[in-house]
Amino acid sequence: MEGENLWSDPHYLGYYLDMMKERYPENQTEREVNFIEKVIDLDRGASILDACCGCGRHAISLAKRGYDVIGVDLSKSLLEHAEATKNEKSMPGSVEFYEGDILNLDELGLEKKYQGVICMASLGYYMTDEDVKTSLQKIKETMTPGGWLLIDLINREKLIKTFRNKNWIKTETGYRCLRFTSFNLEMSRCENHKYVNDPDGNEKEFFQWLRTFTLREFLNILEEVGFNFQKVYGSYTREQYSVDSPRMIVICTNE
Ligand SMILES: C[S@@+](CC[C@H](N)C(=O)[O-])C[C@H]1O[C@@H](n2cnc3c(N)ncnc32)[C@H](O)[C@@H]1O
Repeated sequence: MEGENLWSDPHYLGYYLDMMKERYPENQTEREVNFIEKVIDLDRGASILDACCGCGRHAISLAKRGYDVIGVDLSKSLLEHAEATKNEKSMPGSVEFYEGDILNLDELGLEKKYQGVICMASLGYYMTDEDVKTSLQKIKETMTPGGWLLIDLINREKLIKTFRNKNWIKTETGYRCLRFTSFNLEMSRCENHKYVNDPDGNEKEFFQWLRTFTLREFLNILEEVGFNFQKVYGSYTREQYSVDSPRMIVICTNE
């Protein structure tokens, strides 16, 4: 089983949206967007592409701050959720959502005008190394010269150090997710078998994998694609990146 896009499955989405509400409440998203605004040098009003926007939490928050944002995601259901959440009346900027694969970003007919691109906690799901490179190339083609790219990744070093092969999450509404994880060292990917029970006790199994990167590996890909590395952070509080950082947030420019 090579894996499926579990964000398009209604059973998984019930759990995912509840879990997101609890783990990423609005104030957490606001902290992440404060960080984005501090580390990429854009004036309010600039155009931003949120690649793999999910339920649109960053895209909507950025539009509320005055940016013109496009969110792209594979999951029609998450985009419907994003559309339902946005409230344009309270927005000095704008936000539009498109269903699509970042691997085929060129097929969406987007203008080549983005001064900023963010890709939060999403790059590498079900992707080969060639796919990651292609996605970054397609992203680059949508950007203005000198535009900023921010890619937020799991910190592989911390993941390896603190690896747990079993984990259990229960949401307040009664969804339960039991996750068995193994780390495939040959492919450098985290492989998860998830057993998700809805509040009525119906269970469904999902398989998900995520390519993880060392910083050097990721910089090699970025350089090959033609991005100019600027800085790496270890968290949304601008902590210095280390093996113990929760995240590996890489900032580069399109030179
Ligand atoms: C962990 S979620 C993160 C969503 C969002 N960026 C956030 O931080 O809330 C990963 C998202 O990436 C999307 N995704 C994964 N691979 C994708 C691809 N190749 N093209 C577009 N979206 C993709 C999934 O549908 C899902 O919404």
